[in-house]
Formats: sequence, structure tokens, C-alpha cells
Amino acid sequence: MTNATDFIFDVQHKAATTVASGTFTWSAPSNIALVKYWGKKENQIPANPSLSFTLSNCKTITTLTFTKKEEKGIRFDLLFEGKPKEEFKPKIQKFFERILPYCSYIEDYHFTIDTTNTFPHSSGIASSASGMAAMAMNIMALEQALHPAMETSYFHKKASFLARLGSGSACRSVVGSIVVWGEQADVEGSSDLYGIEAPFAVHHNFENYQDVILLVDKGEKQVSSTVGHDLMHNHPFAAERFKQAHQNLSALKQILQTGDLTRFIALVESEALTLHAMMMTSMPYFILMKPNTLQIIEKIWAFRAKTAIPICFTLDAGANVHVLFPESVKAEVLEFIRADLSVFCQNEHFIEDKMGNGALLIK
Ligand code: DP6
Repeated sequence: MTNATDFIFDVQHKAATTVASGTFTWSAPSNIALVKYWGKKENQIPANPSLSFTLSNCKTITTLTFTKKEEKGIRFDLLFEGKPKEEFKPKIQKFFERILPYCSYIEDYHFTIDTTNTFPHSSGIASSASGMAAMAMNIMALEQALHPAMETSYFHKKASFLARLGSGSACRSVVGSIVVWGEQADVEGSSDLYGIEAPFAVHHNFENYQDVILLVDKGEKQVSSTVGHDLMHNHPFAAERFKQAHQNLSALKQILQTGDLTRFIALVESEALTLHAMMMTSMPYFILMKPNTLQIIEKIWAFRAKTAIPICFTLDAGANVHVLFPESVKAEVLEFIRADLSVFCQNEHFIEDKMGNGALLIK
């Protein structure tokens, strides 16, 4: 069992070396949840466990440059694609404040953060998961420089722990291609504090699983995740939903091991619609799907019924649709997407992605 206190950096015992300045660049991927995280407690503790596929092409690349300074305090400059970006600073300020109890050394440095996304900024794809994960990896690289004896497993756990403090889903963007976050009795090593790579063998049906993201609505999120998670407090169906997430995670674990695509489809689509049902039945209530979201869903169902090709959809907290399918049917499905689904996307825009592998040190 790990406790949050295990992640407190102890300057006296650990700072074996002094590090005056340096720079790291990490890339971290986005991820798509199949069992959804929706609802949280104090300190970014999830109300239920979730499971996600890590993506490959949608990622954030962040360079962190640090220089030791005399006075203590959180100080940083923020660049987005090489240019100063004041609007993003409050999020990073909050991230630094939340991680400070665990990373006291951040007050000794001035940071310059330069960050870019591989996906278009205004695509409606949330960059908080990949962005916060890339930040956490860079901070841990600095911590490792201060404490060279650190073990890799600790590095990954604490990186995910810090990423979680930035944004819950970010803790699933650190390591592994299938990630579980949140305590679940039948997933060994699972924790509310960080994500872990799924600790079981996964059927080859899911190797390189494809995710095509249909950009139905590229605008700002209608409901911020903070507001969204809050909707689960005093929600009439919350307790049942949290129970169901545990059951669905158990079932999905079995499905991923056996390769049963029919059950996979039913579970994944039901999770997506349940997430939206929670929003529709909260107070205040929201409909985050757009007419084109429903058009796409109906087309997917018709295509699946006609061809028996095992494609399905999932949704995040917005109108965009993630189309999921095995690599073996990629050619047919891409043809279908181009011919029948792209018309429902803004400017016919969609992003081809697939399962990936966690964060990477670039330099
Ligand atoms: C619908 O991780 O964005 O995508 O912890 O408040 O930053 P915060 O929330 P966030 O919520 C993600 C919600 C979701 C489902 C999921 O990714 O599991």
C-alpha cells in the first residue's frame, strides 16, 4: 500500500546532489477512457476506478528549463508553441501549488515551460491529460537529478501521482498502453493515487487498437471538468453509477483477456452513454452531444449491423466521437469514415490515432 506521504520529497535525506540548472523535454500522450472517471472527492481522489487506452499521435511535448535562484517561491514563464501565453498560467500556478507539499524543491528554481500539442489547439480535444502528464514527467526528471538513487517504479508512480493533482485523467498518461486508475479489488496494485499499467495479459485483438477522433465540435468545452465532476455530488444516481463502474471494470478486465469484441462493444458504448446520462440527469443538466454526434452513432450502428465489422464509439465530456476498432479492419473502416462520417465533422476534420505507449523522454 502506498500513501500520499510516501511521495513527499525529503530534502535532508534525498538531495544528494546540487543541480544549478538544466533542461528536459518530455512528450506525453492523451488517453481515452473506456470505463469513465466521472465524480471525485477531495484532493483529486476519484469516486470510481477508470480504465483507458493510451493514444499514440495526440500528445503534448513540453520543455522545462530550470535555473536555481536565491529567494524561495513559485516562479515560472510559460510559452505555448514558443510564444508567451498568459491565459495558461493560472492552471500551471495551481499545479505547482498542489504539488509543492510533495516537491519542496520547486520553490528553489525559476522555470521556463515551453509546450506544444501535436493536435490542433482548437480541436475540442482536451489537452489537460497530456499537458499535465508532460509537466509531471519533467518535474520528476528534475527530482531524479536531485536524487539519482530513485528507482524507476517510484519515478513512474510519483509522476502519475503528480499528474493526477494537475488533472485526474492525466495520471493515466504516464506509463503503459492500457491503464487503470482507482482502487479496484480484482486489479492488483491499483490505487486511487496513481495509474498503473493493466497488470494482466491482453488478447491480441486489442493490439494497436485504432481510435479515429471525429471532431464534431471544435469549440471550448461547454462544461469544464471541474463543474462536471461536481455534478456527481448529490446526484440521485451517483451511488449506483460508482458501483456500476466497479462491475464494468471487472467485466472489461475479463473481456480484454479473452478478446471478446462483442462484449467489448456493448460495455464501451454503454459506459459512454452512461457518462452522458449522468450529465443529462444532474442539476443543472446538460446535453453535450450535438445532432451530428447522434447521426454518427446511428451510422456506426447501421454499418456494424450490415457488415459485422466490430467497430464502436466512445465519447468524452463533449460532442466529439471516438471510433474504436481493431487494426485488422482498418482499411474498410477508414473508407467508411471518409465516405459516411466525415461529413458530420467540422470542416470534415478527423484525427487518426491508435493505442500508444506512455510518456517519453525526448532530450
Ligand atoms: C469525461 O481528468 O479532465 O474525460 O480531474 O477535473 O481535471 P479533472 O478532470 P478530467 O476528467 C475527465 C473526464 C472524462 C472521463 C475520463 O477521462 O475518465
